[in-house]
Amino acid sequence: MDQADLPHARRAVVLVLGGSGFIGRHAVTALLVRGAQVIIGSRQPGRIDRKLPEGALTCLRRQARLEELQTPDDWAAALEGVDAVVNCVGILRQRGRETYQRVHHHAPAALAEACRQRQLRLIHVSALGLNHPARSRFLRSKVDGEAALRASGADWRIVRPSLLDGDGGYGALWIRRVAHWPIQLLPADAVGQIAALDVGELGEALAHLALRIETTTPDDRDREFDLGGPDQRTLSDYIAAIRRLHHDKPARCLRVPSLLARLGSHVCDLLHWTPFSFGHWELLRHDNCPQRNRLPELLGRAPRAIGAAPAGSGMAATPSIHGDHEVAVMPAPMGE
Ligand SMILES: NC(=O)c1ccc[n+]([C@@H]2O[C@H](COP(=O)([O-])OP(=O)(O)OC[C@H]3O[C@@H](n4cnc5c(N)ncnc54)[C@H](OP(=O)(O)O)[C@@H]3O)[C@@H](O)[C@H]2O)c1
Repeated sequence: MDQADLPHARRAVVLVLGGSGFIGRHAVTALLVRGAQVIIGSRQPGRIDRKLPEGALTCLRRQARLEELQTPDDWAAALEGVDAVVNCVGILRQRGRETYQRVHHHAPAALAEACRQRQLRLIHVSALGLNHPARSRFLRSKVDGEAALRASGADWRIVRPSLLDGDGGYGALWIRRVAHWPIQLLPADAVGQIAALDVGELGEALAHLALRIETTTPDDRDREFDLGGPDQRTLSDYIAAIRRLHHDKPARCLRVPSLLARLGSHVCDLLHWTPFSFGHWELLRHDNCPQRNRLPELLGRAPRAIGAAPAGSGMAATPSIHGDHEVAVMPAPMGE
């Protein structure tokens, strides 16, 4: 179904929180490709031009600082005229009032209640690997955020991607960088498997979820989407696969003993040195793969393999087709 089939409909308006970030930019692009009207939420909407894809420069922007949006009423201005929200906000480090709990838990909880009141769909990006007991405050705040959505009564979806690959991501850049090093240091207990996926495909999946018209209310279990690429491997095997795209000779991998790696992660947290953190150290010790990978279902095709395609092949450029389920338009009466 497309816009032409719905003469009395208007374009869906989707607010993408964190729309200038690694994931958010791809969600914005995929929504625009599908004909949605996108509003980008940012802490500093006037200073994100260089981070946005070209097609998104003319999108409306709204200031949204999650640490200040702690009650449903606080969200009123940000949600004005909006049909759906995609929340791609996340912090790796706490700074002043920007705490994990405020950004990952309390603000999404308030947003979910505000969306419930207005009957807006809310797509919330979380992370895989949260089902293991975690001590990291970063991970616990993500768990709390998910729980708040489930309890909200809103039209929520939770999306949990595995590790992402793509241009412009801080973590993805580091992994690509490390893959070039002839000697690599990795935590000895980074034994968990990951199912890396393409960030562009995650953007497509998020756009599909935001725009999909549901004929029935899905069960709670069906509102949660664990997403991954086709291959499951440990971090070292993943880095080795990326390396093989550019080098014939494998790197020498030195294993950092668990205690030392954990200590290193705390030092990184103290110095605010990303990409490593205590949360990462905890995540790497367990599998970070979807038990039920729903990415093919959302894309309508098999996901792209990461580290297997010839170098320079780029990411999938063709948006998936979900003709009879997804429209970037809203029936006229909705929200008006
Ligand atoms: N990257 C991965 O491999 C990966 C994998 C799984 C899950 N995730 C999760 O996905 C989420 C986003 O990841 P990402 O890689 O896209 O991160 P990112 O590139 O750092 O983007 C995060 C975005 O959040 C916004 N933001 C940060 N603090 C905010 C605040 N206090 N209020 C409002 N907006 C704020 C920033 O927008 P402004 O600077 O414009 O305000 C930024 O664009 C995180 O929760 C992360 O844990 C990431």
